[in-house]
Amino acid sequence: EKAGHKHFMAKEIAEQPTVIAEALSYYLSADGNGIVLPDPGLDFTAYDRIVMVACGTAFYACYTAKYWFEQVARIPVEIDVASEFRYREPPVAPNTLAIFVSQSGETADTLAALRYMAGKAATILSVVNVAESSIARESDLALPIRAGVEVGVASTKAFSCQLTVLALLALEAALQRGEMTADSHAVRLAELRSLPGLLTRALDLDEWLNAVSNDLAESRDVLFLGRGMMYPLALEGALKLKEISYIHAEGYASGELKHGPIALIDSHTPVIVFAPHDTLFDKTVSNMQEVMARGGRVLLVSDRKGLALASDGVWQTVTMPEVPDLFAPILYAIPAQLIAYHTAVAKGTDVDQPRNLAKSVTVE
Ligand code: M6R
Repeated sequence: EKAGHKHFMAKEIAEQPTVIAEALSYYLSADGNGIVLPDPGLDFTAYDRIVMVACGTAFYACYTAKYWFEQVARIPVEIDVASEFRYREPPVAPNTLAIFVSQSGETADTLAALRYMAGKAATILSVVNVAESSIARESDLALPIRAGVEVGVASTKAFSCQLTVLALLALEAALQRGEMTADSHAVRLAELRSLPGLLTRALDLDEWLNAVSNDLAESRDVLFLGRGMMYPLALEGALKLKEISYIHAEGYASGELKHGPIALIDSHTPVIVFAPHDTLFDKTVSNMQEVMARGGRVLLVSDRKGLALASDGVWQTVTMPEVPDLFAPILYAIPAQLIAYHTAVAKGTDVDQPRNLAKSVTVE
């Protein structure tokens, strides 16, 4: 049932090219050039804002999607974790699209937040893996992520499929609102269709990430850094590592480092930097150099171009395939997951069933 893998988590990480291709083919028209949403569809011109609510990894998918909706569709997006949102009882402006993201569709706090928004938001949309779940049932429209059953407590393929569906929604919103031409929309869809191939190449780094992770297993603390869309991924990388390896980890926006966390840097604290060669690359690298100047040990995850410019003095490098800027978080999820996985295996923890955790958190 683990298809030759030692753990469900390893199997589910390896399945990502296949399930993302499946999610894409579910939502793309036969010629691949259009997005087809299930009935009754969505009219993005009817909304002035989006509110996205979820827990844990699903929340980090929302955080990433905020960048997409804001950058490509120019819709303001508010995000919150469900446990805060539900008791904050925020006022809801008219013409709000509320989006709830949940693998299980049964997370108690997310469901309570959805019920709070019912009758207040113009539309309740959910993005779920389990199509017959409570959250799906109580939504105006439920979009399946098509990841297949996820057994490992650590969410992996559900995260990348959530991102894929949210990316499609952002592109659809951009097209409908006239923020993107039909031509560039077609280019973006072609980029998304190229992702499964890129993910397969990233999975080839498995052995190298295993070797790197053996050193991480000795650490007490690990920091993850990223900027822009790589910031939510830094948060996700840190969550994944602490959840299954029990190593204390924190994700920070690279630019926030000098406002406090840089005090944590010493030669014992590895710093993992997600930095594809994108428009923010130079900014991230200058933050990374501040870390190295204070004796920090940097593991730089970038592409060939980025590494050619910035690998001097770093402790380890991971060479990722080049990827269109917008969709880098989906590709860079692979090293984030594999680093957590191999570190946990090196430490001998129960990877699929980490202590104190349940797959589905149905109590608050
Ligand atoms: O089923 P959900 O997506 O609503 O679950 C949300 C979180 O409990 C979940 O993502 C959790 O953070 C994972 N164990 C992280 O790997």
